[in-house]
Amino acid sequence: MNNNKIIHREKLGGNNYLIEITAPAIAEKYQPGQFVIIRINEKGERIPLTISDVDKNKGTIQLVFQVVGKTTESLAKLNEGDLILDCVGPLGNPSEIKKFGRVVCIGGGTGIACIFPIIRALNNANNEVISIIGARTACLLVFEQEIKSISKELHITTDDGTRGEKGFVTSILEDILKRPDFLIDRVIAIGPPLMMRAVAQKTKPYKIKTVVSLNTIMVDGTGMCGSCRVFVDGEMKLACIDGPEFDAHKVNFDDLINRLQMFQIKEKISLEHYKKRCQNND
Ligand code: FAD
Ligand code: FES
Ligand code: MG
Repeated sequence: MNNNKIIHREKLGGNNYLIEITAPAIAEKYQPGQFVIIRINEKGERIPLTISDVDKNKGTIQLVFQVVGKTTESLAKLNEGDLILDCVGPLGNPSEIKKFGRVVCIGGGTGIACIFPIIRALNNANNEVISIIGARTACLLVFEQEIKSISKELHITTDDGTRGEKGFVTSILEDILKRPDFLIDRVIAIGPPLMMRAVAQKTKPYKIKTVVSLNTIMVDGTGMCGSCRVFVDGEMKLACIDGPEFDAHKVNFDDLINRLQMFQIKEKISLEHYKKRCQNND
């Protein structure tokens, strides 16, 4: 069996895609919360993507991604049968899974696909899981039915009100936090940094342990390049080997947000060049 072969490709809503690729060694070792770093071809850059599911019998892993720039755009152009040059993993520390009690899991945008395997593992560990998922608009919501079937409650929000409640996941979280005599043992949030920062701000006064999975820029994913550095409790950490999950109340989100924007101009130029090359077919 060829490694890194796309055996299934599906367009989800909006600009989201799901691919299943052969990677038996990764599927075997995978635990929820972990990711891979892929490189599409020899000229390609490395990008991290969370493993949203595995099939150990088939030896495959599933990735869900949103097209946001050059590499995700070229990944979306690959078809079933195509090969991805490199796929390294599973990387990062697994999510802590045990019986906590009542856990609120929050996924925003592509963070929904990233938190799905964690919700499933927490449910299997006999936690009462309350899920909140949110996106800009209805078509960007993924895994809604799957998450509903394993959650005690599922709440949905969209920025434009096309599905669920109009607004942000944090308004629902706030309502849940205010429920009288309603103990929450843990909150886990994965999504855009602004969303994770807002979640951290909401839970801090309640002193509820809150965990976020940080989407820093990553290159090697093995602690060598330093591009994924973050500040947690004033200390420098590498998200790829010390994380990606950290205590949300200790993360320096301002620094994270600044670093994520560092290459925006170059990323935009690179996407424009790529689109021009595609139009000219060279
Ligand atoms: P670009 O135009 O190059 O960049 C767009 C934005 O993406 C940048 O401004 C930056 O914020 C971010 N980005 C760019 N390069 C990187 C990089 N090397 N590493 C991290 N972020 C980068 N996205 C998904 O859609 N699905 C996932 O399951 C997923 N899991 C992730 C898991 C981890 C641990 C991390 C760190 C990120 C994850 N991401 C995921 C984000 C994904 O890696 C970026 O969207 C992707 O790298 C963008 O590449 P691009 O060339 O298409 O876009
Ligand atoms: Fe290079 Fe983390 S990605 S050190
Ligand atoms: Mg890029």
